[in-house]
Amino acid sequence: MTNESSKEKKTTSVEETLRQRSFIELAQALTAQKSNAAGRPLTYCLTTFGCQMNEKQSEAVAGIMDEIGYVRQDNEEADVVLYNTCTVRENANLKVYGRLGHLHSLKDRNPDMKIILFGCMMQEQHVVDKIRKSYPFVDLVFGTHNIFKFAELFYEMLQSDQQIINIWEGTDQIVEDLPTERNYTFKSGVNIMFGCNNFCSYCIVPYVRGRERSREPEAIVKEVKRLVADGVSEVMLLGQNVNSYGKTLEHPVTFAQLLEMLEDVEGLKRIRFMTSHPKDLSDELIETMAKSKKICHHLHLPLQSGSSRILKIMNRCYDKEKYLNLVEKIRKAIPDISLTTDIIVGFPGETEEDFRETLDVVAKCGYDTAFTFLYSKRSDTPAAAMENQVPQDVAKERFNRLLALVQKEGRTRSSRFEASVQEVLVEEESKEKGIFTGRTEYNLLVHFPGSADLLGKYVKVSLDECHGFYYMGSLVEE
Ligand code: 5AD
Ligand code: SF4
Repeated sequence: MTNESSKEKKTTSVEETLRQRSFIELAQALTAQKSNAAGRPLTYCLTTFGCQMNEKQSEAVAGIMDEIGYVRQDNEEADVVLYNTCTVRENANLKVYGRLGHLHSLKDRNPDMKIILFGCMMQEQHVVDKIRKSYPFVDLVFGTHNIFKFAELFYEMLQSDQQIINIWEGTDQIVEDLPTERNYTFKSGVNIMFGCNNFCSYCIVPYVRGRERSREPEAIVKEVKRLVADGVSEVMLLGQNVNSYGKTLEHPVTFAQLLEMLEDVEGLKRIRFMTSHPKDLSDELIETMAKSKKICHHLHLPLQSGSSRILKIMNRCYDKEKYLNLVEKIRKAIPDISLTTDIIVGFPGETEEDFRETLDVVAKCGYDTAFTFLYSKRSDTPAAAMENQVPQDVAKERFNRLLALVQKEGRTRSSRFEASVQEVLVEEESKEKGIFTGRTEYNLLVHFPGSADLLGKYVKVSLDECHGFYYMGSLVEE
């Protein structure tokens, strides 16, 4: 299995789970020996780049590291350092390369240290070639498709002094019931599907995460019930395009039907999801959201561009008018909805006129927040080969104008809550001692004086002072 690119070797989910559990046990024994010899617990440091999908997959890797007997720490002077990488924009790649130099110097001081790179960036051939050539001190490299093999790969790495590179080109396998850690005790991400079939022309995700695969609804409901029994009250359903959930299942189920199944889970209080592709957002989903008592009134609906011409070249399958009509329909059915979006500036061929269409949509839609990105050329995507790339200074200037508008609109939208009392889920203590942070169903952050016993609870908070995308508030009742 060393230094190869392999296709999936088919096992059933149950067989694979048992197989990986046996590798966890083998690694446990080896780790206990090493720990005894060192006279201290062995440690690991895991850093996640990128999206919530990566966060979720890192929790799975951390769960296995914990089970094997490693103790997690924030400091990279650890026995094992792991990076879960992202490649959606080039700066994500550059960050990893930048940090590898530092890891090399740590490894010079501690030759027993192990360095593991995995996730999206590793699915790119040129990245793997570069690691093989220029970063021989990296011990283990694997991709997105074989994360469920982590225990096995880790055990192999412990016994080897060679660099191990194991990248799969794809998989249709979904392995359930492996150990996992959770970043929060009261809220959790839940994968409902993997991969993407949309091939937006700028996007590398379909190439590194493969084709769309949905989990069986029963497996999702079972996981959510288990999480609730374990103290979770808010779930975030994760997928690149949740609106096309269930289409590829043997017995197809719609996303709205899945939401209805989850609505019935007793003890679950809040349901969130992301990401919604506008082209697949159904009337059925809007109705389900409108009547649900648990689905938060927040929708992340990536626009990418307001220009119909650019949207066509982006292969987004909707135009400006269709997007605006959709927003109008959603606002009519759910008047208090909070809308957020993603926008790319400087896509190849974008003219000043195209860009103004984007500004126009932002002014019309009233987003609570918009995540704005400078277009980043990703190798092997159709957009990378387009000749009319926008000069950096032009793109940057547009980006700044967009950001100013987005911030202005965001402040206006957020101020609608001023002086209202909202229920928030208390998530963490902020850097300032005694000040806690909660989140409303609209995904708005509120900081307020409180105490640690409130963590994970729902409390009523008065939203006193609007600071743009967050509020300072005060506790009304527990
Ligand atoms: N350049 C800039 N932004 C990108 N995104 C995806 N690919 C690119 C790219 N090549 C943005 C999109 C997407 C978000 C997750 O990242 O806006 O919705
Ligand atoms: Fe990328 Fe488009 Fe798929 Fe989103 S829907 S992951 S932007 S290809």
